[in-house]
Amino acid sequence: MKGLILSGGAGTRLRPITHTSAKQLVPIANKPILFYGIEAMARAGIREIGIIVGSTREEIKTAVGDGSQFGVKVTYIPQEEPLGLAHCVLIADKFLGDDDFIMYLGDNMLEQGLEEFVTEFETARASSDKDKPAAQILLCHVEDPRQFGVAEVDKNGHVVRLVEKPKDPPSDLALVGVYLFDKTINKAVRSIKPSPRGELEITDAIQWLVDNKFSVRHKVLQGWWIDTGKKDPLLECNRLVLDAMKTKLEGTVDAVSEIQGRVTIEAGAKVTNSRIRGPVVIGAGAVIEDSYIGPYTSLGKNCRVVKSEMDHSVVLDGSSIVGVSRLTDSLIGKDVEVIRSTQQPRALRLMLGDDSKVELE
Ligand code: DAU
Repeated sequence: MKGLILSGGAGTRLRPITHTSAKQLVPIANKPILFYGIEAMARAGIREIGIIVGSTREEIKTAVGDGSQFGVKVTYIPQEEPLGLAHCVLIADKFLGDDDFIMYLGDNMLEQGLEEFVTEFETARASSDKDKPAAQILLCHVEDPRQFGVAEVDKNGHVVRLVEKPKDPPSDLALVGVYLFDKTINKAVRSIKPSPRGELEITDAIQWLVDNKFSVRHKVLQGWWIDTGKKDPLLECNRLVLDAMKTKLEGTVDAVSEIQGRVTIEAGAKVTNSRIRGPVVIGAGAVIEDSYIGPYTSLGKNCRVVKSEMDHSVVLDGSSIVGVSRLTDSLIGKDVEVIRSTQQPRALRLMLGDDSKVELE
């Protein structure tokens, strides 16, 4: 079986952070989101992975390389415009050939591994059952299904209808961004028309399979699942991953600093006269001085936190936080400066990217 990871797309929702970077490379506990998907595929025995890349392709190629760091072989498939998830399958045809494959949306994170889904699908496909599945989808009960693809399952457990971001959802079962397909999907993606939002929807391609009497199986996910394309889910995901983290102290901590709970301090990071209360990750080369870093904070490489207090936040590489008395629930991009100024007149001075949000005390 092959793997297909989707990392193209417009990256609309995290634009301030992705202005110059791919949203799939935003770190969760200091590891790019995309890496979790690649590692999950590798653990499930997938060795050949195609990655759909859009305008941020160079950055993704630099981070992932040829895949050998994950024990897989990566083929990059450029997508000129984000024309939809089914469009990704369409343009991956040379890479996929007639093979079965698992498709993974690069901004999705799940607690559960992929091994069980892959094994189940492979076993069902190898059987002599005439009703063997052409697809297997993953579903998850969610509070607000309107922001996802939604499935309707009848009382016999058959998937009967799938709708993309419905105003009036037929159930609370959202489509998780992990799909297993056989080659029939290639025909489906060529048979559907673009949706009202102008995209070839994978949801419509799966509906095509259902309408044409191909078997579509489903599983309901156990454990958490997060579409990290928004700020609060991203912080939540960071919290969940940090909860499972172990202590690792490779940087230097001076004698007056206090480290409590599970904390990772990467090589070359320096903590002076500060209190760190885990779970916290501090990236390589970061400098923490006269500060408090509270639970569920991930600081990227070479960040500087000086005379500040913060918790429950994700800060990307190279950013500085200086003289900030209480920072919480925040997502801060690369090379950002948040500083208390002594300049007159006393005022708030901002330079914010598109879709930014600032909440003042
Ligand atoms: O997260 C699960 C949801 O993902 C499903 O419930 C929906 O049915 C499915 O359509 C999808 O919805 P989103 O609106 O969240 O998809 P998004 O545009 O965020 O794209 C998901 C990933 O696929 C993201 O990593 C970017 C990539 N992508 C997206 C498009 C539209 C591509 O590589 N190419 C594309 O053309």
